[in-house]
Order: sequence, then structure tokens, then C-alpha cells
Amino acid sequence: MALAGTNAAHAGHELDGRDLVAGKTLYADNCAACHGADLEGAPDWQVPDENGVLPAPPHDETGHTWHHSNVQNFDYTKLGGAKIVERMGLSSFTSGMPGFEGQLTDDEIWNILAFIHSNWPEDIQALHQTRNPPHE
Ligand code: HEC
Repeated sequence: MALAGTNAAHAGHELDGRDLVAGKTLYADNCAACHGADLEGAPDWQVPDENGVLPAPPHDETGHTWHHSNVQNFDYTKLGGAKIVERMGLSSFTSGMPGFEGQLTDDEIWNILAFIHSNWPEDIQALHQTRNPPHE
């Protein structure tokens, strides 16, 4: 929404107008195997496996996806955990999250993130909004 003379960019605008139906199908095809058909995450997702790698966390309100801004979640999905961990300088953490660059377009990733967001209860959506500082 563009308002003349004002900076209309608002927190969380990346998810506006996304295709939730497409996002749901894309989630089922690309994410559900690890993150759960109902966004519930892998069983015992807080317990590292024998190689020290954490299973996939839920994307529903019991997980921590909503703790992160839209851009953080987008980068995590596009680039994968390994690249993000490297960028943060955390060499001791091995991530089991693959990157989807080249497999999914940016719009497809946003559709998936909008679908995930649409499943959160209103109070969680409101909290998530506070993790998204206003920006262009
Ligand atoms: C091969 C299994 C696997 C697949 C497929 C997968 N993930 Fe993940 N994902 C993980 C694991 C394991 C983690 C947790 C480890 C970490 O944080 O690096 C994770 C973490 C994440 C995170 C950051 C943690 C959080 O809750 O904020 C996001 C965002 C995410 N995944 C999104 C997605 C999306 C979107 C898809 C589908 C396009 C997807 N993942 C597909 C395994 C997977």
C-alpha cells in the first residue's frame, strides 16, 4: 500500500499479499518431511542426534520461528543453516537445515513463510510483528 508523502513501509510487509495456497503446497513438498506436516517439528527436536545435529524445530507457535524476523527466516531458508552459522561465526554448531537457493524462487520462499505465519494465533502474530522493525 503506497500512501502519498509518507513512508508506508511497515513491519512485516514482506508477507503481505502472498499466495497462501501455493505456500501450503510448497511447504508440504519441501519442508514437511523435516518440519512436520502440521508444522509440529521433528519428535524430540530439542535433543541433538548422535552427530550433535539438532532435528528440525516446529514452525508452529511452540517453536522459535516466530522469534525471528521475516528477513532472518527468509535468509535461513534460502541460504541454509550452514551459511548463516558461518556468517555468525559459530563454527561449533552444525546445522541440519539445507539451503533452497536454486530450488525455490524468492517468491516461493515468501509464500511458504506467509503460509507458516498464517497458522500462528493472533497473539503470536502480534509478538512476531515486534521482531520486525519497520523498514523499506
Ligand atoms: C532435511 C531436513 C529439513 C528440511 C527439508 C527443511 N528444514 Fe528447516 N531446518 C531443519 C533443521 C534440522 C533446522 C534446525 C537446525 C538449525 O537451526 O540450523 C531447521 C531450521 C529452520 C529454520 C530456522 C529455525 C527457526 O525455527 O526459525 C527455518 C526458518 C527453517 N528451517 C525453514 C524451513 C523451510 C521454510 C523449509 C522448506 C522450504 C525447510 N526449513 C526445510 C531441517 C530441515
